[in-house]
Amino acid sequence: MALLNDDKRYGTIAKAWHWGAVALLIVLFGLGWTMTELPLGVEKFERYNLHKSVGVTLLLLMLFRLVWRIVSPPPPLPDSLSDGMRRMAALGHWSLYLALFAQIGVGLVHSWSANFPVVVFGKLALPSLTAPNEGLKEILAVIHYWGGMALLVLIAGHIGAALYHHFLRRDTVLKRMIPWAKI
Ligand code: HEM
Repeated sequence: MALLNDDKRYGTIAKAWHWGAVALLIVLFGLGWTMTELPLGVEKFERYNLHKSVGVTLLLLMLFRLVWRIVSPPPPLPDSLSDGMRRMAALGHWSLYLALFAQIGVGLVHSWSANFPVVVFGKLALPSLTAPNEGLKEILAVIHYWGGMALLVLIAGHIGAALYHHFLRRDTVLKRMIPWAKI
């Protein structure tokens, strides 16, 4: 498998960013949905810290991914796709990027405004960029909740589009992102 993208398929590095982000998102939603219900205690504290650390890891991964798009541009969409479909694909992808960055940013500012430092995997304390603020904390908790829901809708659309390409249009758009798939 080639490291760089070519005009037919994604390379190993772009696939690793993509599936790495999927894995981190599964962990983030899993922790997010279970940690808030826990009673106050060490386990809750540790799960919150893990959620935040994985969120910061995703932030780094997404930044590398954006840089990688410039280093090695994605393969073009099939010629058979109309201009409207191309615009929808671009809108879907950039909405996903934007929603991910926004969700991570809201999570960070929420933690700082709640006066909880963000210490990545117990090793690296990020400087708090906002002062403690009870009102802001409450608003951001609601935005973070609905941000998660919006992300799920975008992700469902993204999966739906990939399946539409594979099963209805029968093109290579899904396969070219699957590791070891033959095109
Ligand atoms: C794309 C990345 C992220 C996703 C998908 C995500 C998802 C979620 C979800 C689903 C919840 C549960 C919401 C609820 O039931 O109220 C949650 C809670 C939370 N998240 Fe995230 N999160 C992300 C990134 C982050 C980051 C980077 C931080 C901070 C560094 C963070 C901090 C928090 C905190 C503090 C809560 C608890 C909110 C509360 O207690 O009301 N999240 N997250």
